[in-house]
Amino acid sequence: RKIYMITPTKTRAEQIADLTRLAQTLYLVPNLFWIIIEDEIKPTQRIHRLLQSFHLPFVHLNIATPDYLKPTQNQSTWRRPRGMFQKNIALQWIRSNTNRNDDALVYFADDDNTYHWKLFQEIRKVQSVGVWPVGLVGELLYERPICLNGKVHSWFHFIYRKRKFPTDMAGFAIHLNLIHKYSNYIFNVSATSIGQQESQILDTMTTQDQLECLANNASKIYVWHTKTQIMFITAAHKLQKAGLTYDLISEL
Ligand code: UGA
Ligand code: MN
Repeated sequence: RKIYMITPTKTRAEQIADLTRLAQTLYLVPNLFWIIIEDEIKPTQRIHRLLQSFHLPFVHLNIATPDYLKPTQNQSTWRRPRGMFQKNIALQWIRSNTNRNDDALVYFADDDNTYHWKLFQEIRKVQSVGVWPVGLVGELLYERPICLNGKVHSWFHFIYRKRKFPTDMAGFAIHLNLIHKYSNYIFNVSATSIGQQESQILDTMTTQDQLECLANNASKIYVWHTKTQIMFITAAHKLQKAGLTYDLISEL
């Protein structure tokens, strides 16, 4: 069973390093198709080179998040939707490039999370919608569904208590049939949906009693919502004052 994995990716100094780590994880996973969507007005050579350097099946798409939805200088990034335009482009791509009856799974995977190869074995078990714990998220060591005999009984979480499905994007996978069935569904990109996008897509496509608890009845953590620290790359302009600049080497 094929897994379509959707990864939005934002331009930043740490991007190629993050994607290198992720691409190398994907070598451990058979039959995975990587949909990578740059937050850019054009696909970049950098990401093209990175993708070419790995022998993974992929498609390289792009769409720029409009400026008015980007966080302003003194606003923290969580106040704005991250990677939602990109996920929406990927949903469109899937709908026009797969058959509605194909037996395949769809998974949303940020470029900076940490994925154990066993997660993908769990994703492949999904019949309709599968859920599992996510580590290092929501101001806790993990958030998770609490399961009884493979069914969700309740959720262990702390922030945004009003969510109907309080899980992170990394905590579920959806059967391809549902992506086709709800063929108009796209993520709401407005700021009012912050922190609600996971809950909204699940609320559209499934119900709590249909969810399948994976990862040993949701008792194992196979994915962590790690966040790459923003590196302070501040010395170049100081060098410039001394008449020194980078010479022309590039990543990859
Ligand atoms: C969490 C979830 O894990 C995301 O899937 C969800 O989109 C996000 O919250 C949200 O609620 O908007 P978080 O770690 O806070 O993610 O966000 P990032 O890792 O900064 O961004 C998620 C993905 O979108 C990353 O792959 C990132 O490269 C990409 N992104 C982020 C963009 O393409 N454009 C941006 O402006 C920001
Ligand atoms: Mn992230």
